[in-house]
Amino acid sequence: MTRSVGILGMGCYVPEKVLTNFDLEKIVDTSDSWIQERTGIKARHIAADDEATSDLAYNAAIKALAAANVKPEDIDLIIVGSASNDHNWPSTACILQNRLGCTHAAAFDLIAGCSGFVYNLAVASQMVKTGLYNHVLIVGAETLSRIINWKDRNTCVLFGDGAGAAVVGEVEEGYGVLGIDLGADGSGMKALYQPSGGSREPATHETIDKAGHTIHMNGPEVFKFAVKIMGKTALNSIEKAGLTPEDIDWLIPHQANLRIINSAAKRLKMPMEKVWVNVDKYANTSAASIPIAMCEAIEAGALKKGDNIVLDGFGAGLTWASIVLKWAL
Ligand code: ACO
Repeated sequence: MTRSVGILGMGCYVPEKVLTNFDLEKIVDTSDSWIQERTGIKARHIAADDEATSDLAYNAAIKALAAANVKPEDIDLIIVGSASNDHNWPSTACILQNRLGCTHAAAFDLIAGCSGFVYNLAVASQMVKTGLYNHVLIVGAETLSRIINWKDRNTCVLFGDGAGAAVVGEVEEGYGVLGIDLGADGSGMKALYQPSGGSREPATHETIDKAGHTIHMNGPEVFKFAVKIMGKTALNSIEKAGLTPEDIDWLIPHQANLRIINSAAKRLKMPMEKVWVNVDKYANTSAASIPIAMCEAIEAGALKKGDNIVLDGFGAGLTWASIVLKWAL
């Protein structure tokens, strides 16, 4: 019999410092009303000077391990999703493996932009399902504040820092992951990317001067893509799960922009009471946004055992990913 695989426990962490829209008004030519109207964002958390992505990931991961009641040495694999790793290499997953004392774990990073956590869950669930591993720690963690161009009002108002983690393992039969839909369209890679610092354009004084190491984004293009793909991928994974949108209790979308979330909900004909929204508090935390939203939903007691949940993400690549879970906790 194949194993049912799901989430055994979750944890999240956001840095203490909060940067409001009013604070941003003092940095760039913007306004609280513009940001709220166009995005739904009111504030974001920003990492302290001595905090890097692996530190945020660590704080989320220890909570996830405690919630799952799994010891570090019982983790078989760690997968981290991030667009703002500690270093280009080695992986943040290796740094985390050492810090957590997951001495028996393999470790790698998976790059799928803001779809990263859902991609990680897809990979982890299949590895547990086949029996290769019993416990996989998956993490979405970002210190996007380090790669933001704080002079570019088109992007600097949109992002925040944070991390979310989950332990993936065997769950009660019939629960856990029911449907997966992953995809990519690399023709859109320049809609959202970090031009410099890699082998295409190595870091030089010139690349730094032109802020090539920061987030470059074609906002309207990403917006159009997101509005089209979020509903579509969710419908695909719901169908693969053998369900219909009416069977879904919660939509937990990537938190990039309230208007994008609203349009996905509309496409799925889901009332907003069934959609978890926290983009107002954290802005877009990329790969961390879905696990942070899930943690909040768990803490609020909103997720009940047996609920059908759709995780729905899109991001740089361009990528998209959705998973239907029957909540097992
Ligand atoms: N404050 C004030 N004005 C601004 C700001 C700002 N922060 N940013 C842009 N503007 C101005 C623009 O310069 C433009 O002015 P102009 O008409 O004089 O040129 C005007 O506002 C309108 O700009 P648009 O780009 O048309 O605004 P739009 O309604 O498309 O909203 C936004 C922009 C919010 C960026 C939107 O396009 C969006 O959300 N796109 C998707 C972004 C996204 O989700 N990115 C990440 C996805 S994947 C990942 O998470 C890594």
